[in-house]
Amino acid sequence: MTLMRFKIVSRAGLLDQLKYVMRFSSSLQIRNQECPQQEPERSFKYADLTVRLAPPHLLQPKPDVRDLVFGKYFTDHMLKIFYHEDLGGWQTPEITPLENLVLHPATKALHYAVQVFEGAKAYRGRDGKIRLFRPELNMERLNRSASRFGLPVFNGGELIKCISRLISIDQEWVPHCETASLYIRPTLIGVDPTLGVAVSRSALFYAILCPVGSYFHNSSDKKGISLLADPSYTRAWQGGCGDQKGGSNYGPTIHIQEKASQKGLQQVLWLHGADMQLTEVGTMNIFVFIVNENGEKELITPPLNGLILPGVTRASILSIARELNQFKVTERNITMEEICRLISEKRLLEMFGAGTACVVSPISHIDFLDRPLHIPTMEQSDAVHKMFLKTLLEIQYGYQPNHPWALEID
Ligand SMILES: Cc1ncc(COP(=O)(O)O)c(C=O)c1O
Repeated sequence: MTLMRFKIVSRAGLLDQLKYVMRFSSSLQIRNQECPQQEPERSFKYADLTVRLAPPHLLQPKPDVRDLVFGKYFTDHMLKIFYHEDLGGWQTPEITPLENLVLHPATKALHYAVQVFEGAKAYRGRDGKIRLFRPELNMERLNRSASRFGLPVFNGGELIKCISRLISIDQEWVPHCETASLYIRPTLIGVDPTLGVAVSRSALFYAILCPVGSYFHNSSDKKGISLLADPSYTRAWQGGCGDQKGGSNYGPTIHIQEKASQKGLQQVLWLHGADMQLTEVGTMNIFVFIVNENGEKELITPPLNGLILPGVTRASILSIARELNQFKVTERNITMEEICRLISEKRLLEMFGAGTACVVSPISHIDFLDRPLHIPTMEQSDAVHKMFLKTLLEIQYGYQPNHPWALEID
């Protein structure tokens, strides 16, 4: 595998300052929502984990890091944990060779989308150590999603230990390179073999791993991505479950994503309501960096009002920005009308998406009702999106030793 090193060029003083002043919030801070979590004694336990290794002839060759495509190659093993209400709940966790699932055709997940999932990554640092980035936040979100979909909750700490062991077993799959990482897909499905929209009395948790390179295929980090903003579609609504990570939020977006692709655009900018509020971009949270009416620089992202997935990257960027204290940071709605006005008044500086898969993805173009809007993100000399990207990568790849957001795997 090619060994490539990400070159960190520190913006004088900025990152050093961050190291000293950053406080570390430990939750996705969704208003008025308790995070459901099973007490360790009622959850599955890492101590009960069993391991069945794949025989040597089943081990797959590892792809060259240059050939990595998101979600195409999988490692040799997986983690599985069954839940059966009639057998007392969670069963013992097991690591097995990666294998197909056998499901009854009536399985609830296949009919009513009783399915929730997560997306996280393991990074091999410059020191060879493998780290997870704030995995407790993924556990918190998975439990919240599970609870909304009538699926059993679990103890997040125990699951982090089980997933860490899986990564440790498949550690040679974590790319030896700082432009790639190992994507972790924890998945929880209702496997009751009965039709009927009801709580699933049986469930299966599994985690699979895949080495991934850059999320976007072109040089979007240099050019910025282009978006389709079509107000006739929305991905989430008040009282819905856009703030949960259930598969049912994603399937219906494929058609619109296809529409964007046919127009030569890369992602969908999801709008909501008569005033066309910006909510998210593709599967990323959105950030807008502007000069406000008082002449101050301001970073804006929509609030966690039920429409927005509470992203781990979003929460991390907000923390970094607030601790940096060099510009105003606001969680508020922003509409397409405001975006158009900011552009015409030359007060829109940057727009970017943020998420685990691509970390920070600058936006350079929006097709809004067939009107092309140029976003000057790539023209800024001291761009904040680059600073966020660099700071996050530094933490993820171990350039900031013992950082509290990075969990080392043995
Ligand atoms: C709809 C949506 N928004 C935002 C995000 C970004 O969240 P995170 O930063 O936790 O990856 C994701 C990815 O999980 C997503 O699917």
